[in-house]
Amino acid sequence: TARSLQNAGTEKSPLQVFVRAKKKINDIYGEIEEYVTETTQFIGGLPQEIEIVDKEEKELFQSYVQKVAAIREVLSRDHMKVAFFGRTSNGKSSVINAMLREKILPSGIGHTTNCFCQVEGVDGQEAYLVKEGSDEKLSVVSIKQLANALCEEKLSESSLVRIYWPRERCSLLRDDVVFVDSPGVDVSRNLDDWIDNHCLNADVFVLVLNSESTMTLAEKSFFHTVSQKLSKPNIFVLNNRWDASASEPEFQDSVKSQHQEKCIDFLVNELKVSSEKEAAERVFFVSAKETLQGRLQEAQGNPAHLGAIAEGFQNRYFEFQDFERKFEECISKSAVKTKFEQHSSRGKSIASDMRLMLDNIFDRANVLRNNKLDQKKSLTDRIQKTENQLMLVTREMKLKIHSMVEEVEQKVAKALNEEI
Ligand code: GTP
Ligand code: MG
Repeated sequence: TARSLQNAGTEKSPLQVFVRAKKKINDIYGEIEEYVTETTQFIGGLPQEIEIVDKEEKELFQSYVQKVAAIREVLSRDHMKVAFFGRTSNGKSSVINAMLREKILPSGIGHTTNCFCQVEGVDGQEAYLVKEGSDEKLSVVSIKQLANALCEEKLSESSLVRIYWPRERCSLLRDDVVFVDSPGVDVSRNLDDWIDNHCLNADVFVLVLNSESTMTLAEKSFFHTVSQKLSKPNIFVLNNRWDASASEPEFQDSVKSQHQEKCIDFLVNELKVSSEKEAAERVFFVSAKETLQGRLQEAQGNPAHLGAIAEGFQNRYFEFQDFERKFEECISKSAVKTKFEQHSSRGKSIASDMRLMLDNIFDRANVLRNNKLDQKKSLTDRIQKTENQLMLVTREMKLKIHSMVEEVEQKVAKALNEEI
């Protein structure tokens, strides 16, 4: 069936790079959490009368437990984020639907998307949406109802509606890709807010153009701002509605090379975000509407070309798949780097801070022990026993922490080397 084909496809999906890295780093943090908790419990459990660890230090250890828990929480929510921009009606929502293989987002002529819509996967069978500033889960039964829910009240165009869609219905959502749809860049004056609120953590941007016309100033200036705020954003350019070119076959090649040149020039010379060679791999000529129609046919067991709008369907369909492949490679690499590199260096610094503190405690315990030895005669046997015990436990903890730090550092370095 189409679904099992889809499943088979995901086995080799470049997105697995991210999925595997996420699992690895989660496991490593699970171990760090165990060590940190264990150490903190040990320190907290030391008898009051043995004054080698003061209150401040105990609190500091406690803060590591919280820090590690907070990082684990962020890690569990880390995903790959792709944001789509372009002029009204160029087909942003249609491209997302085609990638999701289902008509999830409302699309249509005129100005359709009137606020930011984020589509992300959720466990279970039920789709729902949550509006910004609310916790209420509004169930989504149909596209029409979704469109109504989005229009119902006047949502601010830079506000965000989160659409939670059953993970198992789409492999991209299952692999933790999150899609952000936007209103047309030509309808807003708040482009700076858009970027600050929705784009700073995007791994990939897709500029959806209308291949029947040409890139507009609004589209260009939006991406100029994006590339000023972010260093070297990953930008793909889709010349959508390429099916329209079929009606003018005599101009097809020249129009294509004209667009191609302009797009490459924009990425390379204007935005300076990629080399000529990279840029050539980032510009595509597709038909989102046709791809979605084709995929819906396939899902019903029919050949994809039944969804064709015009002559030349196969080429445009392949080009869309080519775009998806390159997009997947790019987004998973970028997300591993941007999301996990930070976490691994924080993990390393927590581990080495703790090692330093434990080394200090160990030294102090030694000094204390020597002092006490000098006054041995006046000490009771009981104290002697406690000290010896303390020595043993501290030594054990020190060894444990040393080996833990080494292990974690090795694992993190290995995980990163493997995945990047
Ligand atoms: P806004 O949300 O209004 O900014 O528009 P959008 O960019 O999301 O465009 P949308 O996906 O709503 O598409 C606009 C119209 O163009 C819809 O009627 C789509 O069916 C149609 N459309 C989208 N992609 C294509 C395409 O590749 N070929 C053709 N022929 N029509 C398309
Ligand atoms: Mg739209």
